[in-house]
Amino acid sequence: MKELVDILNEELKNASPQEVLGLVYERFKDKIAFASSLGYEDQVLTQMIATSCPEMKIFTLDTGRLFPETYDLIEKTVARYKPNFQIYFPDYQAVETMTNSKGVNLFYDSIDNRKLCCSVRKTMPLKRALSGLEAWITGLRRSQSITRTHLQVVEWDEANQLIKINPLINWNEDDVIIYINNHNIPYNLLHDKGFPSIGCQPCTRSIEVGEDVRAGRWWWELPEQKECGLHKAK
Ligand code: ADX
Ligand code: SF4
Repeated sequence: MKELVDILNEELKNASPQEVLGLVYERFKDKIAFASSLGYEDQVLTQMIATSCPEMKIFTLDTGRLFPETYDLIEKTVARYKPNFQIYFPDYQAVETMTNSKGVNLFYDSIDNRKLCCSVRKTMPLKRALSGLEAWITGLRRSQSITRTHLQVVEWDEANQLIKINPLINWNEDDVIIYINNHNIPYNLLHDKGFPSIGCQPCTRSIEVGEDVRAGRWWWELPEQKECGLHKAK
């Protein structure tokens, strides 16, 4: 599998995101799925999947701490595109053990606590969502963060031992917004209220004009620490 990464990167280097989706679906069929957080980029990919490979599995990790606006968008998106959509929830015993010993808002107390919560609520359910797959798709873009500048369209995901496909890796924020508007794609209403990047409610705040797009995510941590474990650096 790992050897496929270079071959696929060569094959897909001039392909549009729609072409990337179509080609990887042809190759991996039910062994590939798209992870959607319902953010701007993911809504673009959901619309593209609905038009180019509607059978592809799309999943979201419901951490139990999402914004109400995100739940509303799940409903709207499912109604509009009728995707092959699945929600994954954290293991209730792991959540109970964590919150009973460390508190419901443990993430503000230390980076270790924050990482524990992300592991219980996101990374462990992600493992379940990815089991049996050979590849997964994300909405990562290079210009989102200093932790993402090195990424390629096709990556080897060492943590999950899978191929990871990032069809929008070369897009900038304007490309995303223009595509959303041109195709009248439903999006999270928080994007209009200063939230360019949306995760869990307690760990996401709005940003001021001129601030980095991910400044509102885990805003109390340093930029180089801001990955939740879904996308560990190599
Ligand atoms: S995060 O690691 O900081 O949370 P970010 O919000 O930028 O990630 O999203 C990057 C990509 O990770 C998304 O485009 C999506 O593919 C995936 N992702 C993030 N959160 C989730 C989620 N809750 N469910 C499914 N996929 C997710
Ligand atoms: Fe927990 Fe915050 Fe991570 Fe969500 S983003 S899983 S609430 S630490």
